Amino acid sequence: MDLKNQIYLRKSCRVYLDDEIDMNPIIDFISTVKPLNNEIEYHYEILTVNEVNLKTRWKAPYYLAIFSEKKDNYLENVGFVFQQVSLFMQSIGIGSCWVGLGSLKVKNPEFVILIAFGKSDKMTRDISEFKRKPLSEISDSSDERLKPAQLAPSAVNSQPWYFKSNGEGFDVFQIKQNIIKRQFLKKWNPIDVGIALAHMYVANENSFKFEINDVDDIKGYKYCGSLKI
Ligand SMILES: Cc1cc2nc3c(=O)[nH]c(=O)nc-3n(C[C@H](O)[C@H](O)[C@H](O)COP(=O)(O)O)c2cc1C
Repeated sequence: MDLKNQIYLRKSCRVYLDDEIDMNPIIDFISTVKPLNNEIEYHYEILTVNEVNLKTRWKAPYYLAIFSEKKDNYLENVGFVFQQVSLFMQSIGIGSCWVGLGSLKVKNPEFVILIAFGKSDKMTRDISEFKRKPLSEISDSSDERLKPAQLAPSAVNSQPWYFKSNGEGFDVFQIKQNIIKRQFLKKWNPIDVGIALAHMYVANENSFKFEINDVDDIKGYKYCGSLKI
């Protein structure tokens, strides 16, 4: 099944089977993924549950540990690349969930985040079960073409994105959180924006373009870049 369809039926998977997985299709897919910024080096490792520290109340058999060079926009790039991987895994019957509340037993300064994954029979849902802000709250246009971004997963479902039409496409913004929320969302919200952009890319593979222009922030939101589809 193609990746686009996964956007409308995926969910964060928190119930896994213990089955072993053939990692080759995943490794092959990752080697072909489009980055948001091809000047940022990243890599990943496939770990088992014994190699990670978790604060989640659930576990998966496997974890992708994601590492990146810490250049501008590296967090958006990580979200963009690895959400494509998550949709791919879903398309071959493997559930996944981003895990902010986890770390590595062997520390590494380039470590960014984990994605839990494994075989599952509990990783799809009906579109009516998505809990998301209305398009009118995440955009000035309520343009239906933003639906893939609206349905994107985000840390504690914070949905920190905002899309403002600019005639050619959309300027993309990230919510400035209040001081309390900022403490725990500051690392994750840029990843969330990258995830939403991945959904826009997967849904518009041939026309998607993203560039960072000289655009001012708007009240309550920080400018991230501009999108054409
Ligand atoms: C950056 C990021 C970090 C996340 N961290 C966790 C986590 O530590 N534990 C967890 O159970 N879910 C985590 N999630 C999953 C979100 O809670 C989930 O995406 C959101 O509630 C929306 O639900 P859905 O993915 O099923 O659509 C994370 C998601 C993102 C994008």
